[in-house]
Order: sequence, then C-alpha cells, then structure tokens
Amino acid sequence: MTEAFRYERGTLHCEDLAAPAIAEQTGTPCYVYSRASFLGRFRTIRDAFGPLDALIAYAVKANSNLNLLRLLADEGSGFDVVSGGELARVLDAGGDPKKTTFAGVGKTDDEIRQALTAGIRHLNVESPGELERIDRIARDRGEKARVALRVNPDVDPQTHRYITTGKAENKFGIDLQAAAELARGSGDLAGIELVGLHAHIGSQVGDPAHYVASLQKLLALRDELAGYGVAIRSLNLGGGYKISYEGSEGRPAGDYAAAIAPLLEGKGIELEIEPGRWIAGPSGVLLTRVVEVKRGGEKRFVIVDAAMNDLVRPSLYGSYHAVWPVSAEAGPPDLDGPGNKTESVAVQLSSADVVGPICETGDFLAQDRPFPDVDRGDLVAVFCAGAYGFTMASNYNSRGRPPEVLVDRDGFTVIRRRESYEDLVALERA
Ligand code: LLP
Repeated sequence: MTEAFRYERGTLHCEDLAAPAIAEQTGTPCYVYSRASFLGRFRTIRDAFGPLDALIAYAVKANSNLNLLRLLADEGSGFDVVSGGELARVLDAGGDPKKTTFAGVGKTDDEIRQALTAGIRHLNVESPGELERIDRIARDRGEKARVALRVNPDVDPQTHRYITTGKAENKFGIDLQAAAELARGSGDLAGIELVGLHAHIGSQVGDPAHYVASLQKLLALRDELAGYGVAIRSLNLGGGYKISYEGSEGRPAGDYAAAIAPLLEGKGIELEIEPGRWIAGPSGVLLTRVVEVKRGGEKRFVIVDAAMNDLVRPSLYGSYHAVWPVSAEAGPPDLDGPGNKTESVAVQLSSADVVGPICETGDFLAQDRPFPDVDRGDLVAVFCAGAYGFTMASNYNSRGRPPEVLVDRDGFTVIRRRESYEDLVALERA
C-alpha cells in the first residue's frame, strides 16, 4: 500500500474518496491517481537530493498525462524526454525548456530541430553519428547545440534484462573510451557545446552502490577530459530508483542521495537525475471490474475488464502487481501499509489467475495468487500502476484506452476521458 491508497471501513480509498464512487461515474477499467501522492513523492525526492542541489528531470515516459506534467511544471520540476511528442507535451504543460533534456538512441533530424527551436537544456547524445548530425543541423541554423554525452558505464544493476540499459551489450550510450575521444574532438565542432555527461543504468535499481559505480566512472572520465582542457559542468545519473511492488523492498530516495553525496562534495558539479517510476508508480492504481469467474482444470480464472492492452507490464516482463478486491476488510497482504495487516485478512484465500478478455494466453494481470472469493460485478484494484501503465497502453483487440482520473482529497477530475469507438477509427475514415 502507499500513503494515498488505503482500506477504510471495508473499502479501498484514494485519499478521502471511496474507489467505488469513481468507478460508478467513469466506468471500468480506469486509472486512478492521487494528486497528493504524485506531488508528495516529487517533493520527497527533490528534497532528498536538495543538499546536492540536483535538477529533478522527471522521466516523462513513466506517465505523460498533460495534467500531471502541469502539476510538476508548477513545482519547478525539470523533464527528461525521449521523443518529439514528449517534448511537445512538456512545453504544452508549461514545462521549462531550460530544465528539459532529450535522450534516446534514434532522434530524428526533425526531433533535433524541434529541441533546438525549443532551446532545451541539452541533448543527450548516444552515438558519434548523432553528434555529427547535431553539429551539422546546429551549424545550418547558425547556432551551437548544448549536448551531454550519454556514456555506457558498463555497470550491471541486477534488474530485469529488458530494463537494464547500462551494460556494454545494451544499445544505449557510448562506451567510455569512445566517449573520451568524442569529447576531446568536440572542441573542433562549431555547432557543438559539450556541457555534460549522462548515464542511465536501468530501472528498479535497488542498491545505491550501482549509482556510486556509475558516478565513479563519470567522474573519472570528467577528470580525464579536464586534463585535455575539456570542461564538463553537469553530470546526469539517470533514473531507475526502485519502488516496492510487493512487500517493502523499495528504497527511500534519501538512500541514493546519501550514497553519492561524498563523491560530489566540493566539485561544483551540476547534478541531474531522472526519476520516473519512483514518483508516478505508487501514485496510481488501475480499477477494474470482474466480468466472469470460471474454472479450468485446477485453475480459478477471475476474468476482469482490464487487459494487457491497458497494463502490459505483467505480460511483457512478468512484472508483479498486487491485485485485490476494492471491498475488503484490509488491503492486499502482499503490500505493506496502513490498513492491511496480513493477520487481519480474515477471509478464505485460494489460488486464482486474474486475467483480461484479450485473445492471448499472455493476457494476465496476476497468476497463481492467493485471492478471496469474488463475484461478477465486484471491483478489483491493481496497485502501483501509475508508472508505465497508461503510457504503454494500446488499442489491441480494438479496445479503447481507459480514462485517467486525478483524485484530490474527496473529489476527482477526469484528466483523460475514455476512448470511444469513433476515437479508434477516426484516422481510418476516408
Ligand atoms: N532516464 C532514462 C534515460 C530512461 O531511459 C528511463 C527509463 C528513465 C530515466 C526513468 O526510469 P525510472 O526512474 O522510471 O525507472 N517500461 C518499463 C520501464 C522502462 C524504463 C525505460 N527507461 C517498466 O514498465 O518497468
């Protein structure tokens, strides 16, 4: 459980609002976010890195709803974007381009131009070829492009192989030696101003020591470059700070800040970090309703109206999300927090697969879970769904994507409406 989602008087609440009140109005499935949690978690990580004077560049890919971006922009957050679309969202939401960085291995010429026109903080360059292209495009425009080199520090953060990004065999960044050569040559590029080094080692990185290892490599490279007269003023450690999907293995943001602080002391470095999941993940749930319950062999299938098109993480990575009925004495025993002590779950549990209606065996939200008896029409919540939930949703099986609502104390606003059939086919009409 999180601060924002708790069971009270037998019902899941988001802040002071009972979840069924939302489902009644919006229907299901529906993403529900807590404003207090989203803002609170941003402030917590900002304050944790406060002594290091770090720029918090929220990773827009985790949850890019304009209304959430606006909340962060109003708080003075920076942004990490990876596409022209994300950059446009940030600008639309009132985000400050001077606090916005642009990463990604395949930026197109148009996206580079878009970033230069917006006057962003810097582009994170991922290959020698890309640096050449940025140089040419900037020179054609008669400007200098601010860039950071994204290095691949070859650090193994020991997480899921699909979300590991900083090992030598991953497609991201430039290896340290090539980055050193590139940086030394950058002084000859009239269209380039090299300002920083960047490394993102992966997601769900639980041990701060991996950031220390990555930072040590960045600092060594910075020292080497200083020896050649190339001054680097900013270091970007990327995102990846771990949250708890089950139990309490997430890390307080302060642990990461405390681990790296001694390395930065007195160096006058501008530090940037790019948390996405840490802010958005625990701030949202996906509400869904039981359509049918059936047995198949030894299995009990709880068929709900949310599917892999709405939340693909379980299908794609085998990710674990706590799933639990909205009406229950206490919260899911697999998540800690107020109102859900395991011993207070005085109900019969038996194994169930919680699955969606999509025609794929891989369409599941939970497998082989101890789960209470539920009936057709019961509401069920999928927890920690605020990051990489809606942003990875699709229209597979011609399903409209779900609405998103933002709860503020005892009220809520629909911050994205449900997609209709007309939305689905609008671009196909002759
Ligand atoms: N910075 C860069 C350059 C990134 O590539 C990412 C995530 C982040 C920051 C933010 O990472 P976070 O703090 O959110 O862990 N879809 C996967 C996660 C993919 C992450 C991709 N890059 C999932 O659902 O687990």
